[in-house]
Amino acid sequence: MSSFYVVGGNKLNGDVNIDCAKNSLLPILACCIMTEDEVILKDVPKYSDVIAMCNIIQHLGGKVEWQEQNLIINCKSLDNCDVPNELASLVRSSIFTLGPILARMKKAKVSYPGGCDIGLRPIDIHISGIKNLGGKVVEKNGYIYADGLNINGGNIMLSFPSVGATENIMMLACLINGETRISNPAREPEIVDLQNFINCCGGSVQGAGTNEIIIKGVKHLHGCCYKTIPDRIETGTFMIACAMCGGRLVLKNALEEHNQELITKLKKTTCKIEALNDKIIIESEGKPISFGEIETAVYPGFPTDLQAQMMALASVSEGYSLILENLFEARFKHAGELLKMGCDIRFKNGVCIVHGKEKIYGADVVSTDLRGGASLVLAGLRAEGYTTIGNIELIDRGYYKFEEKLINIGADIKRILK
Ligand code: EPZ
Repeated sequence: MSSFYVVGGNKLNGDVNIDCAKNSLLPILACCIMTEDEVILKDVPKYSDVIAMCNIIQHLGGKVEWQEQNLIINCKSLDNCDVPNELASLVRSSIFTLGPILARMKKAKVSYPGGCDIGLRPIDIHISGIKNLGGKVVEKNGYIYADGLNINGGNIMLSFPSVGATENIMMLACLINGETRISNPAREPEIVDLQNFINCCGGSVQGAGTNEIIIKGVKHLHGCCYKTIPDRIETGTFMIACAMCGGRLVLKNALEEHNQELITKLKKTTCKIEALNDKIIIESEGKPISFGEIETAVYPGFPTDLQAQMMALASVSEGYSLILENLFEARFKHAGELLKMGCDIRFKNGVCIVHGKEKIYGADVVSTDLRGGASLVLAGLRAEGYTTIGNIELIDRGYYKFEEKLINIGADIKRILK
């Protein structure tokens, strides 16, 4: 279990190159299963979740090759439809392979997914979508067995706009006969990115980002060369770091339109933010005032993946802040670790109330999940003294060269390998 050693107090100044979006790459890697042609994904960061998905593709018989920053995937020799527990349980995105395997092989056996420990994270919406299209699904002994022999296009209304379920059904519908309409889909930018990737491979998907997605089945998908959108959560994480520590950051390969909610909140804390094409420039004195309140919601609402980072910001912002987490019922574990750093955080009827403090203090803390771990790094950058953050393998799931990027802008942080 490796850790970060952080000495707080430095301002953050300089450029940050934002990487490609983890939550676009993971469904797109699953989608590569659906074509027998070569797919080239450009500038792919080695997130450990990406590595886990590559291992699943190789287990299924596909080929994966890194050519510097580019990832070459070739699933021509796919000869397996089974994703075992030891691979599936490492990532949430393993469940995204269910639709693609079913579409390509007409049957699938996929073990239950893993992912950050932020709630129950059931897969009932994924399963009911497949059944609505005529798929037969049996869950037993920790596996999902699916039969796709009688699958055809149809109309699906999602009971909740689940990101993963939308992606799973979108991909399955690409290679089946007929037209599929998904009502109440997720509208995240990563859904639009997946639509663009599928269409780049010869698929026919429209409406992603709106309240109805229409997929027309095609006979096959061909290969393509593709680069995903930037990671809006990495962008937000660095913006919040600047708000907490003070300084001036130029975020390159960052899209303002994907971070509107956050930008509105950070301007309330007195940050100065401007966007120029694919750059976001943020300046802060490092003396934030409270952003008021955030309530996480599906896109375009405030992203749940920035909730933990905002709790760290609230902890050093003058005044009281309220945080409501509506997406995941167990996504407050980082609060317990922030308390060890002297943060004033309490809960009342499920609402998190944070009383910002002038000073918080370094401590020995442990990452509870990917974004919770990131929030502890941010707190350490701002705390008096030093902080050790354990279990940083969880942070490596969704941040690549995190400490290098932070060192480049003035942070005092180093990785201690165990
Ligand atoms: C995706 O997870 C992201 N992960 C998550 O990012 C993100 O927090 C989440 O979407 C919400 O935006 C990836 O894309 C790999 P959901 P996913 O299905 O698809 C309930 C990060 O930090 N639900 O939209 O699992 C579920 O319990 C990660 O990068 C069902 O009830 O999220 C939750 O309450 C964390 N049944 C809500 O929907 C289902 O079948 C949203 O889940 C599916 C979901």
